[in-house]
Amino acid sequence: MHGKRILLIIGGGIAAYKSCELIRLIRRAGGEVTCVLTEGGSHFVTAMTLAALSENPVHTTLWDLRNEVEMGHIQLSRQADLVVVCPATANMLAKMAAGIADDLATTLILATDKPVLAVPAMNVRMWLNAATQANVATLRGRAITVIDPEDGAMACGEYGPGRLPEPPQVLDAIRAALREPGPLTGRHVLVTAGPTHEAIDPVRYIANRSSGLQGFAIAEAAAQAGARVTLVAGPVTLPTPFGVTRVNVESAREMAAAVDAAQGVDAAVMVAAVADWHVAGAPDRKIKKDGSGQPPALVLVENPDILATLCASPRRPRLVVGFAAETHDVIAHAKAKLARKGADWIVANDVSGDVMGGSRNAVHIVSAGGVENIPEAPKHAIAAALIERIARALD
Ligand code: C5P
Repeated sequence: MHGKRILLIIGGGIAAYKSCELIRLIRRAGGEVTCVLTEGGSHFVTAMTLAALSENPVHTTLWDLRNEVEMGHIQLSRQADLVVVCPATANMLAKMAAGIADDLATTLILATDKPVLAVPAMNVRMWLNAATQANVATLRGRAITVIDPEDGAMACGEYGPGRLPEPPQVLDAIRAALREPGPLTGRHVLVTAGPTHEAIDPVRYIANRSSGLQGFAIAEAAAQAGARVTLVAGPVTLPTPFGVTRVNVESAREMAAAVDAAQGVDAAVMVAAVADWHVAGAPDRKIKKDGSGQPPALVLVENPDILATLCASPRRPRLVVGFAAETHDVIAHAKAKLARKGADWIVANDVSGDVMGGSRNAVHIVSAGGVENIPEAPKHAIAAALIERIARALD
């Protein structure tokens, strides 16, 4: 973010206090901040606080003669690299959608020729109100980035969507909005991640130890490289990486359907640890002990092979990457899998240690061209290395 200039517009909501922390984070990351404080915002934070944190003059009114002489409001709207509205109140979103310019903040938003990022924060009912949702849709249709608020307890005592994301997340969104086109801009990358749960009955299931960490890191790295990313996620509680479209599934058959529904995929990275079998005829009522002392017999049926099905389909993406978690003969198994599944690459990893659930990994990329080893590193670094190679292969 070095040298990037952020025009930060602070709307009138209790979440305005989080903007103070945001200023510190942007500056620590190397960015420069100029604040515009709305009349409403000034009831929650003071211009003095913002001036001290940003080390820049704070602009509050359209009718400031000295400001207009030194730097007209049009110039103020143009000299930034990015305009960030945080918090963006329901009223501010409505004015932005309608093109109203009745104070300094809304005038700057209308006059700017730079990207605009809005970070809404408001009462849950105000956020869910059809008027606000229509305004958000209008703004997104005009290529203004509007971040979804978080779910949680609100200052007003209610619970639901409407909370401002924490400042580090807003910083991530700012970084993404500032990013110049990346090596995967214009590409659609599909990632599967996590385990699957195969129901035994409504309360029990068969699962595996996959954490989803590696797949989520790959989805995040692809988004950071500029790709449109669809992440088909098995049941894990990991947060959705910024800029990624997530489709949650439980079973292998649901995952297969979600993968089948993805359109126009350039590269598919199948990281999910898909269960090989599901339970035949899982009842929709809980299985009870019948007093005989005999356990129930579970009959297992093979799941669809999502990777092999995708490779054989007429809509096969240009690059298909499978994963192979093995506890022994890692490379030999990966080579066999490459041929059997019809993938372009198999990324093989040894899971005999604590890779599943751990934060580090070491992999071998097995392709028709040979084997490339990526030495042990944090999973996000493995993800970045893999995405770099995927971008090169698609070029
Ligand atoms: O056959 P195996 O499970 O070892 O293959 C692993 C690779 O195949 C992974 O990329 C995994 O996501 C994918 N796979 C799949 N559908 C299955 C089983 C595995 O897509 N039913």
